[in-house]
Amino acid sequence: MHGIIATWRMAKEGIEQGFEQLNQNGKASDAIETAIKAVEDFPYYKSVGYGGLPNEDQVVELDAGYMDGDTFDVGAICAIKDFANPISIAKKLSEEKVNNILVSYGAEKYAREHHFEEKEMLTDRAKAFYRKKKKELEQQAQELKPYDGHDTVGMVCLDENGTVVAGTSTSGLFMKKPGRVGDSPFVGSGFYADSEVGGATATGLGEDLMKGCISYEIVRLMKEGLTPQEACEKAVNDLDASLKKRRTVAGDLSVVAMNKKGEFGCATNIDGFSFSVATSDAEPTVYLVTRQGDGHCTFEVASKEWLDEYMRVRMAPVEE
Ligand code: GLY
Repeated sequence: MHGIIATWRMAKEGIEQGFEQLNQNGKASDAIETAIKAVEDFPYYKSVGYGGLPNEDQVVELDAGYMDGDTFDVGAICAIKDFANPISIAKKLSEEKVNNILVSYGAEKYAREHHFEEKEMLTDRAKAFYRKKKKELEQQAQELKPYDGHDTVGMVCLDENGTVVAGTSTSGLFMKKPGRVGDSPFVGSGFYADSEVGGATATGLGEDLMKGCISYEIVRLMKEGLTPQEACEKAVNDLDASLKKRRTVAGDLSVVAMNKKGEFGCATNIDGFSFSVATSDAEPTVYLVTRQGDGHCTFEVASKEWLDEYMRVRMAPVEE
C-alpha cells in the first residue's frame, strides 16, 4: 500500500507527480519533496513559495518543515527569504545530527552553502495584492492586520516500504510582522510522522493550531486505535472547544491524516476546506469537506465546475 494526502486543492498537481513516483516504488521522502516543490513553484498560489504574499514590510518570508517517520529525523526553516524551495532545505536539515531548525539569516546561510536555488520570491502579482490590501486598510483607517486563517500546504506520504513522512511549506500570514512564524515549521504542530502509526498535518491559524500540538495529537490518537477520520475530528473538535472556552473564539483549524495502512481522514472547523489524496486504491482526487452541526466531517469529490472555478479565481487579474 502507498499513498499521499495533502491540505487543499492546490496540492493536486503536486500529488499527481509524487504519486507517480510512489507507483514506481519510489521513496516517500522523494515523493513528498517532489509534490511540495510543485506547489512552491506555481506562481498563482498566494500562500506557498513563489508568489506567496509578503509580510507588512512587503518581504516574502517562508517556513517549511519535514519529518521522517522511520527515524524521527526532523528539519525546519523559519522566515527564510529568497530561496525557491523551502521544503528541500528543511528536508536536508533533517539529515543533520544537530542544528535541525534554522531561522532567517542562519537558514539562508545554510541554504547558500548547500547550493539551494536562490530566487526573488516576491512576484508582481503579490506586489499588486499588497498594494490593494494597503489601500483598503488606509481607506478604512485600519491598522495592518494579518487575516485569520491561512492555506499552508501540508502533506503526509506513505511508501511501499511502510515509511511515513510529513512535510509543510508556507509563506505564513499575509501582512504578518517580520519574523512572525506559525505552526508550519514546528514538529507536532504543523506536521508529525511515525511510520509505526501514520502521519498528520495542519493548516489554518498557526497561533491557534500550535496551542493543541494538533498534528502530534492526531498521531497519538491513531496510536490509541482511532481511525484517521476519528482522530482528525477529535483533535479539531477538542481544540476548537478548548479555545472557545478559554478565549471565546477559535481560529481556523483544518487537518488531514493517513495511517500506515493508507487509510485517511480529515477535519475542519471552517467552511471551504478541501484536500487532495491518492492511494494504491484511488487516483489523485480532490475532496470538499463539510462540517456537520455535531462536528462530524463528511467529504465529497469536487465537481469539474468547482475545480474550474477554483483555478479561474486563482488566476484572475488582480483588481486594484
Ligand atoms: N498555518 C500557517 C501559519 O499560520 O503560518
